[in-house]
Amino acid sequence: MCFFDKRLLYKGLVVFLVVVLMSSCKDFSKSSLSGKEIRIERKVDSVLQKMTLIEKIGQTAQRGKSSRVKELPEHLKQAVRDGKVGSFLNIMNVEDAAELQRIAIEESPNGIPLIFARDVIHGFKTIFPIPLGQAATFNPHLVERGARISAVEASSKGIRWTFAPMLDISRDPRWGRIAESAGEDSYLTSEMGKAYIKGFQGDSLKETTSIAACAKHFAGYGAAEGGRDYNTANINENLLHNEYLKPFKSAVEANCATFMAGFNELNGVPVSGNSYLLKEVLRNDWGFDGFVVSDWNSVTEMINHGFAKDKKEAASKGINAMLDMEMTSTAYEEHLEELIEEGLFSEKKLNAIVRNILRIKFELGLFENPYFEKDDAVLYAKSHLDAAKEAAVESMVLLKNKEKRLPISKKQKIALIGPLVDAPHEQLGTWTFDGEKEHTITPLQAFKEDKGLEWSYAKGVAYSRDKSKEKFNEAIRAAKSADVIVFFGGEEAILSGEAHSRADLSLPGVQEELLLELSNLGKPIVLVVMAGRPITLERVLPKVDAVLMAWHPGTMGGVALKSLLYGEVSPSGKLPISWPKKAGQIPIYYNHKNTGRPVIPEKYVGIDDIPVGAWQSSLGNTSHYLDAGYLPQWPFGYGLSYSETMISEVQWTPIQPKEGDQISISFTVSNVGKYPIKETIQLYFRDVSASITRPVKELLRFEKIRLDANERKRVNFTFSTEDLKFYNSTKGWSFEPGDFVFWVAKHAQDDINKINLTIE
Ligand code: BGC
Repeated sequence: MCFFDKRLLYKGLVVFLVVVLMSSCKDFSKSSLSGKEIRIERKVDSVLQKMTLIEKIGQTAQRGKSSRVKELPEHLKQAVRDGKVGSFLNIMNVEDAAELQRIAIEESPNGIPLIFARDVIHGFKTIFPIPLGQAATFNPHLVERGARISAVEASSKGIRWTFAPMLDISRDPRWGRIAESAGEDSYLTSEMGKAYIKGFQGDSLKETTSIAACAKHFAGYGAAEGGRDYNTANINENLLHNEYLKPFKSAVEANCATFMAGFNELNGVPVSGNSYLLKEVLRNDWGFDGFVVSDWNSVTEMINHGFAKDKKEAASKGINAMLDMEMTSTAYEEHLEELIEEGLFSEKKLNAIVRNILRIKFELGLFENPYFEKDDAVLYAKSHLDAAKEAAVESMVLLKNKEKRLPISKKQKIALIGPLVDAPHEQLGTWTFDGEKEHTITPLQAFKEDKGLEWSYAKGVAYSRDKSKEKFNEAIRAAKSADVIVFFGGEEAILSGEAHSRADLSLPGVQEELLLELSNLGKPIVLVVMAGRPITLERVLPKVDAVLMAWHPGTMGGVALKSLLYGEVSPSGKLPISWPKKAGQIPIYYNHKNTGRPVIPEKYVGIDDIPVGAWQSSLGNTSHYLDAGYLPQWPFGYGLSYSETMISEVQWTPIQPKEGDQISISFTVSNVGKYPIKETIQLYFRDVSASITRPVKELLRFEKIRLDANERKRVNFTFSTEDLKFYNSTKGWSFEPGDFVFWVAKHAQDDINKINLTIE
């Protein structure tokens, strides 16, 4: 594989040098490592020298304890005492964690500290919007701050490692785990990923409030066939490098301490035993020097995949691919010794693996300071709640606002209807093991707290999947006395996330029926959607005046929603994923290829335009659906505010750029409305003709800009031809001179401000 990024090549060389030095004279002083790195390598080496084979194998084991088991089982304590465990996940009782650590330090042969891990995905106690919602902020600063807060809260309970961020590109909202992703775009996902890593890891891993990040699931998990979780991913090599791997490469550059291999197979090889990904790409090409953990039982699941005949072979395939740590299953523990005895693996290679794990433990300062100080005062701190509110506000996306129905005037009486108007557990979203519904502010609670408002309330349906129409009358009664109906619909938290894929993406249960009945009252309806994915709204869209996508907004969701509905703040979220009209359009994503027969809008023929008895003909037809057209409901990058913005005076320099140049595109963005807003301007480009076909557009830069009413700002995007490189399996990464088009745009379908450039 060709990866001639100089920095990475350099880092790769450094790691190679370390391994060579360690296996020979162990004189790090002559290597090009920094003083700190040399000190850590020396410490790692001094511990490693004392370890028995059993202890080395022990470092590769991650164990968990079921939350249903109250007492800490004796066999787990004994395993720690024997040096047979490197890490625990999901030990949520702080006393248990402290006791296990005490045993590791005081009673195990070499006193090697344990590392405690947890899925701190979008908050620990203070819950931020689901990651898909956080991506919709297009604001990496907010994301970094949220991750920092999560780290501060989680580390106060002894957690020093989180299994986040999830960097799987997903073009399929049927896949439940899209909620945990940053959506369909590799650049946005990379920027979000870097922000999470910086927030979790802080300035130095050694700080006691820093937690090691984990880039997951390496790689291709988001391309699961049909959006069915755990399913097969087939991604050709070019696409793999140009889209799916990019955020992971950025994670290595951002010093992400750990990686997690996924459950899926990729092009026929399960990723937990995939040497190409784990050795060639991650270690050799990118120079990653942290450690890789498997996913839950994913080593032994290679047997189900049909890639290993038994546990021993699964262990062999995992360890030979340099998968460092096995989560929960026990193939390594049971078979590594045997594999080494039989020459199917070597202790020397095991040493390299153990080094990867010990290195991170040293970097986290766990050898010096293995214990933690419980600090309940940081949980739900006021500043944390304020940050969660801000993130929720910026994550929400205004998708429709007919006749400027929003914001609502405080003089109007509102009817609060729908299954999610007061569902504190549901609005926290997927992967919130620690957030408590008692601390969550729902829309109903937020309205109750504001004494100046007039409102009526009736859910109409008890929960999102409810099929009973019994309570419809209560909702209709509440709506009749109001000026505006606000319907809080969507999905419960459990309908998205792991193992929760859906084939029908419309509002579950009888929510559509309720909305249609409410629309007969002839009152304005605002639909607030709380969900882990885009919801297809075709049937109800014509009946509602406004649509606000709130995702699962977290602890402060209700407060955030109230402030947006009343215009205290203008919506500023943008879609991180194309929003389909119908599930049958999926996959539908903005950076698709052009095809030989791209759509010509003027010539589009819909199903009802075809005469009965028409002759078979394909001439003039293009790549589209007869019954769903060729566009999504709303494109990637789309989102309205309460004002209007205009982009003008686009200029660029140099006028005739050449390979190697820094190119700068500047423009004026004006707020021509009366609300202060934040607008995210996006820069897209297209490589018109190349050695392999390139997407019709690709996001190159974005910036969220604050504008007061009637304010104008001059903004500049800078990039170099390096950023226009792409991967071609026969040539590696290269920039190909030629014709390019650039757009400064408000969303992926906005192509007014085009610039055509030939770069020589
Ligand atoms: C998920 C991972 C998660 C792990 C530990 C698995 O089922 O796929 O994303 O980190 O469990 O909870």
